[in-house]
Amino acid sequence: MCTDTAKLSIPRHIAIIMDGNGRWAEERGKHRLFGHKAGVDAVREVVETSRSLGVQHLTLYAFSTENWRRPEGEVSGLMTLLQSYLRSELKTMLSNDIRLCCLGEAQQLPAEVREVLEKTMAETMHCGAMVLNLALSYGGRSELVRVARSLARDCEEGRLHWKSIDEELFAGRLYSVGQPDPDLLIRTGGERRLSNFLLWQLSYAELYFTETKWPDFRRPHLIEAITAYNQRQRRFGRTGGQVLSLAVEQP
Ligand code: FPP
Repeated sequence: MCTDTAKLSIPRHIAIIMDGNGRWAEERGKHRLFGHKAGVDAVREVVETSRSLGVQHLTLYAFSTENWRRPEGEVSGLMTLLQSYLRSELKTMLSNDIRLCCLGEAQQLPAEVREVLEKTMAETMHCGAMVLNLALSYGGRSELVRVARSLARDCEEGRLHWKSIDEELFAGRLYSVGQPDPDLLIRTGGERRLSNFLLWQLSYAELYFTETKWPDFRRPHLIEAITAYNQRQRRFGRTGGQVLSLAVEQP
């Protein structure tokens, strides 16, 4: 692993599927919520590390549309954790110049979570060093359907011609509007799937899977993932030779 982070090329945008909290707790004979609570400590360290490394956008999959199907006690426990995390982190976000954004159906969240979420987003609106996106009540397919519906409505009501629909216009209606696509997707907890996360935005992301369960994921694990990313060649459809010659031409 590269320990000199100055030598690393830092992805502009990192997205993370924080998996393994439940199994981490069960391995210790504890309730699943114990794992989610430990997961919050990992969130804090990963946010702080990302900021100090110069990551500009960090997106964390904190609650999916499918997660509403979990037992009621686990859902309400997660909502409480989220609420207390947001309350406790506002100061740190402000002092570290971190802007909070939400990707997902925020209107589905309980009123007290929505309230603190909206307050944190409004108060950090001016921050510019890093964007922290929390994907909350987020589903990739439903995000795409939402965009399709809004384009269809604009066409039906005469504000848009179907021929003007292109990738740029489509991307401009995603929750992540204005933000670059993730360069690196990390999934912890040993599974190797996307689980309905950022289906449009992850098209060209490098995928990194680790067995480490989310509550154990810390600064060295993040640096390890970035080191692995540095060993990949991103071709975006070009040949390896083309990519190398472009790199030579670039200043
Ligand atoms: C997946 O692990 C994790 C979640 C569904 C929730 C993630 C939430 C946190 C890390 C804490 C709250 C978040 C913030 C941003 C403060 P899992 O429960 O599916 O684990 P398992 O696969 O081992 O069952």
